[in-house]
Amino acid sequence: MARVLLVDDEPSILSVLGTLLKAEGYEVVAALGGEKARDLLKSERFDLMVSDIRMSPINGMDLLRLAHDEHPAMPVIMLTAYGSVETAIEALKLGAFDYVTKPFKVDELLITVQRALDYSNALSENANLKAQLGTRYQLENIVAESPAMQNVCEMIKRVAPTDATVLIYGESGTGKELVAKAIHASSHRKDKKFLAVNCAALLEPLLESEMFGHVKGAFTGASSNKEGLFEAACGGTIFLDEIGSMPLSIQGKLLRVLQEKEVRRVGSNENVSIDARVIAATNTRLETLLKENLFREDLYYRLSVIPLEIRPLRERPEDILPLVYHVLKQETPNGATPSTISPEVAAILESHSWPGNVRELENAIRHAMTFARDSVITPEVLPPKIRQTAMQKAPSSSFSGAPSELLDPQRCKSLKAFLRTKEKEYLQQILTYTGGDKEKAAKALDISLATLYRKLPEEDDSGAPSGQPL
Ligand SMILES: Nc1ncnc2c1ncn2[C@@H]1O[C@H](COP(=O)(O)OP(=O)(O)OP(=O)(O)O)[C@@H](O)[C@H]1O
Ligand SMILES: [Mg+2]
Repeated sequence: MARVLLVDDEPSILSVLGTLLKAEGYEVVAALGGEKARDLLKSERFDLMVSDIRMSPINGMDLLRLAHDEHPAMPVIMLTAYGSVETAIEALKLGAFDYVTKPFKVDELLITVQRALDYSNALSENANLKAQLGTRYQLENIVAESPAMQNVCEMIKRVAPTDATVLIYGESGTGKELVAKAIHASSHRKDKKFLAVNCAALLEPLLESEMFGHVKGAFTGASSNKEGLFEAACGGTIFLDEIGSMPLSIQGKLLRVLQEKEVRRVGSNENVSIDARVIAATNTRLETLLKENLFREDLYYRLSVIPLEIRPLRERPEDILPLVYHVLKQETPNGATPSTISPEVAAILESHSWPGNVRELENAIRHAMTFARDSVITPEVLPPKIRQTAMQKAPSSSFSGAPSELLDPQRCKSLKAFLRTKEKEYLQQILTYTGGDKEKAAKALDISLATLYRKLPEEDDSGAPSGQPL
């Protein structure tokens, strides 16, 4: 049974709220005023604190700070008088889970309490998951070799069971929509719809009608009633892509929809209840838009209950080759053996900076597969732009005009050593990718199993390559 610490300096509010929460099956400890709450926070454990903000001498903000120090994982919901929303936003900045305005609607309060508890349960469940180091993440189609992407997968698992709003930030092509779909697919909403709207692609009136619907005659061209995405989602998930481009007037309407869980079609006077989880994505930092007054602060805090950042591909090079093999496999018809890449191609792809991130990598591999003459992709069939950047990084291999020491026989020997080291690195990468399966690795490398064994270093007791020279 969840234990809730309830704090207010008005006995009547404590009594009403206490009765409500007890009726829902929570264990309630009521504290009349901030001082009593402070003592309780220092001596006992709670799953949630619901506290009034305006109290004296110790107010809700003081308690919020104390709660953060003493019980960092405990969510806090603030109660605020109507009209003092600014203080509530301050509280969100300090880490409160959410706020509810007084006089509060019973439903809204109970839903917020449940959301906060679901969220903290998901967090603690995940603390256990985190302990399982070395776990391979197989979330649907997400390649995640790098610690940064493994973190993203962990977050997906944590947040999927909750209904919390997620704000995904990442450069173009990093996988924001893929992550949003994975959250939906791992949630209890998975059998319902996942509906996406690109806020940058539609002009203001169209976007509004797309999201909230309209009634016949609401504007020129509205020849019949139309359901908006929020209604259509009906138990599913709505993905608000490029939310940073949403016009301010629609931002205000969206905020109301999120708060009231009701939508009003354009031109209608009726509200319709909705049940949709919202996931938003942006490739512009919303914090920058806030400073320029292009994004509402209150909406920002509503949306970013769970912020999730996907790092650009250049900052997680461990993902490059696994992504390449993932695409090669995806693009190969069922039953056929996927093409593979030559060691030079692997080196080029690993050193490219991928400004277009995973989408650019997918396109490059598709391009190469189209032009490849056999099942091994070689540098000539890579898109010219990628070959060029590789050549800029590694100057021409021709010796014309090269300093004379490059022709030194000692140098040639070291080049051989260099190639051996590279070969060893590449073999180990492929083996990691195949999970140590040598047969698969040999197939991918287009060499015989015997050759692979010859080239492999001795294995130590743990089964990991020992790092002996080849
Ligand atoms: N980690 C990953 N594993 C496998 N495929 C990925 C991964 N990340 C991205 N992709 C693939 O890359 C492509 C681009 O991803 P997605 O459309 O989700 O990016 P985005 O961040 O929404 O891009 P944009 O900002 O341009 O809308 C998709 O085909 C997606 O499946
Ligand atoms: Mg996208």
